[in-house]
Parts: sequence; C-alpha cells; structure tokens
Amino acid sequence: VIFQRGALRGEIAVPGDKSISHRALFIAASTQAKVRVQNLNPGRDLDATIGALSSIGASAKRDGPDAEVQGGRLHAPEAPVNCLNSGTTARLIMGTCAGAGLHARLQGDESLSSRPMEPVAAQLRAFGSRVTTSGGALPLEIAGQLPAQTRHFILLSASAQIKSALLLAGVYSGTPVTLERCGGSRDHTERLLKSWNADIVFDADRVAMRSAHIEPRDTRIPGDLSAAAFFLVAAVVTPGSRLTIRDVGINPSRSGLLDALLQMGARIEIGNRREWDCEPVADLSAEFSALRGITIDSSLTVRAIDEIVILSVAAAVAQGQTRIAGISDLRGKESDRVAAIEQMLRSAGVATESDTNAIWITGGIPNAAGASVQTGGDHRTAMAAAALGALCGPLEIDDAACIDVSFPGFVPQWAAAQNADRTIAELR
Ligand code: S3P
Repeated sequence: VIFQRGALRGEIAVPGDKSISHRALFIAASTQAKVRVQNLNPGRDLDATIGALSSIGASAKRDGPDAEVQGGRLHAPEAPVNCLNSGTTARLIMGTCAGAGLHARLQGDESLSSRPMEPVAAQLRAFGSRVTTSGGALPLEIAGQLPAQTRHFILLSASAQIKSALLLAGVYSGTPVTLERCGGSRDHTERLLKSWNADIVFDADRVAMRSAHIEPRDTRIPGDLSAAAFFLVAAVVTPGSRLTIRDVGINPSRSGLLDALLQMGARIEIGNRREWDCEPVADLSAEFSALRGITIDSSLTVRAIDEIVILSVAAAVAQGQTRIAGISDLRGKESDRVAAIEQMLRSAGVATESDTNAIWITGGIPNAAGASVQTGGDHRTAMAAAALGALCGPLEIDDAACIDVSFPGFVPQWAAAQNADRTIAELR
C-alpha cells in the first residue's frame, strides 16, 4: 500500500477499544450470565480471544459489530490454544487457566513466540500454578489446580497484562486478590469489574479485589484511542486538516497521547464527555497545529505505551527536540518499536538517537517522498506510516495485512478521510 500526502477532514468513528474488548470477553465468560458486548473490536486479536475462550468450553461469538458471550462447563483445551499475534490473549488466557485449574498448552505466531511470557508465568507460579515456558516464551504449558498460596502480589513490572492475568486468576478461582506497584498501567479490568458489581477498590498503584463475585451485564465498548491516535496525529501535522472522531475512550490511564500532544501545542478539543460503564468517553476534534518538542517522562509513556510510534511522527515535525523516556518495554511489543521508529523516521530524513531507556527525535521538515517503511508485521507501525505519508509522502509500506490485527478497514477509511471533500464520482 502507498499512503498519499494530504489533509484529513470530516467526522469519523474508529473500532471498539481492543484492550477493553478482550477484558469484556474474558470476564463475562467466567459466569453463566449471557452478555452482549456491543462494538467489540473487529480485529484478529479478538478472534484469538474468541478462539481461546471457545477452546475451554465458554461460548463467545461475533454477531455483526457486537459479540455474545457466556461461560459454560469449562474444560482443558484439547489442542494447543493458538493466540495468533495477540499478547493480551496469551497473558489473559494464562490467568484464566491458572484460576480455573485448566491444563493448557499455548502457542502463537512467530512474533508472539519471541515475546516475553516469563514475567506473567513467574507471578502465576506464586499463585500456585505450574507454568513451563520455552526459554521464557511460547510455546508454554500451564497446569495445576493447586490451592492459592499467594493472594497478595507485588508486580514485577508496570504491565496491565500481568495485572489483569492475576485479577482473572482471582475471578476464575473465586479468590480475593490484592496487587501492589501497578505503576499506573491501564485500569480497564478494574473498571469493568467495578461496573459489574465486584467489590474492588483501586488507584494507579494498588488494587484490592475483596470479592471475586461479579454480575456481568450488557456493555458497550468505547472507540479505541489507540486507533484514533493515527487520525489525530495526522490531522495535527498535516496542513489543512480538521477532523472529529466520535465516542473515543479517554480513560486517564490510556490518554497520555492526548496530554503529550496538548503540551506540544496541538489544537485538540475534547468535547461531549460522558461515561460508558465506568469508562470515560468523548468526541475528539483535531486540526493542523504548529508543534514544539517536549520531554516525555516514563509515567507519561506508560499511559501512551501503544502510541509512542505515532507520537514519534508528531515529534518529527515539532520545533526542537523531543525526548521520550521509559521506552524499554517497547522493544518487546509486536515488534521492536524503538527500532521501528528509528527506521521509519530516518527514511524521512529525521534525526533520532536512542539508548536503552530513551529516544531523542529532532524535529524538522521531514520528507518521505518515495520512501518505503518496513512494518516488521506490526500494525501500529503500518498505521503510523500512513500519518507520516499524509504529512510528507507518498510513502509505501511493505505489509498492510498486519493492520487487520486491530483495525480491519483502516486503509479505505483513511483514503476516505483524505478525500472527504470529494464526491464518490470524483474519486472513481
Ligand atoms: C495491553 C497492555 C499493554 C499494551 C498492549 C495491551 C492490555 O501491554 O502494550 O498492547 O490490553 O493490557 P503491557 O501490559 O505489557 O504494558
């Protein structure tokens, strides 16, 4: 696919939040209640979760833009569970199997098989599970319904996936769980448990789930800020843009990108604020703005952990230097995202430097005309390249199929936003 230069205009909606979608399915499947999850993320990562839950005897099915989910008589999966490209599926099914005492083998695609599973495995062992990884990664085996030995955990890293795996282990085993040193990671699991009447209190650093009893009901997933991010940044950096994105989740543990862009001088309006099942939602409007470089510390990076690649595109045009700290975990995502940022920005003539903890980007007048970006099979790099292309393309990516992990339909929706002022007849 080649991404063209050009402003983005009009009013759009983005797919349902991927992170909340996984949680809604995993938590709902722990009970016998029949739950409708509206606006489930349409991506392939959710197919991995639907497959994983079905393989242990829960019922989870897509129904148009929604899904129906209900627990069942859970059983050990007959074949290895294929988590495809989805790290969240792998970590959350580990917590589920640990809690439900199911013996399971997990596998994934090549990228997922190189991602770290030992941190979550180590914490689940403390819960009483036996987990055997392949050198710290997939394929792995999890077994044992041992009595819970530990219900109080000190998190080894600020990972929402580890935190959520432990909470699911508590939910599926009916065991209260307390967590410390959560490090400000996203709190969607806690909010959904609360909205489904669990006895839970939490802040950025601690969670106390005092009772694992929940009463799930139908829920509606907000638009994914991580998907909106590509449109927002493209609108802010590309002259002539003005775009509104409806019904986007703006949970403070996820909204680091908005804070960073506002600090850089972006003209973004956050309007029509409301709440859907304990999750704050708003309409976001963005327009072309002059940006300045800023320093982003690690506490902000945690709140924008999946937006650092697209944020680097804003930094590439900002006046002065932008420093982003706390990036070490980015090397273990769907690809090494620090390497991806450097490769993408350098192809547009932008100077970058990095060490183990931080990256420095010197803004200027990027020019990616004729450049080609290697996505490394990473959906977020592919979509960030679209924003760089809008600003200074045309720019080609080697693989657009990976986008389907979180945002099927991205490419035509992007082209439509770039041609919002033209009629369909003109486009033909
Ligand atoms: C996620 C948490 C983050 C994020 C990932 C989704 C989640 O990972 O990068 O894309 O849904 O819990 P960590 O929890 O490992 O930081």
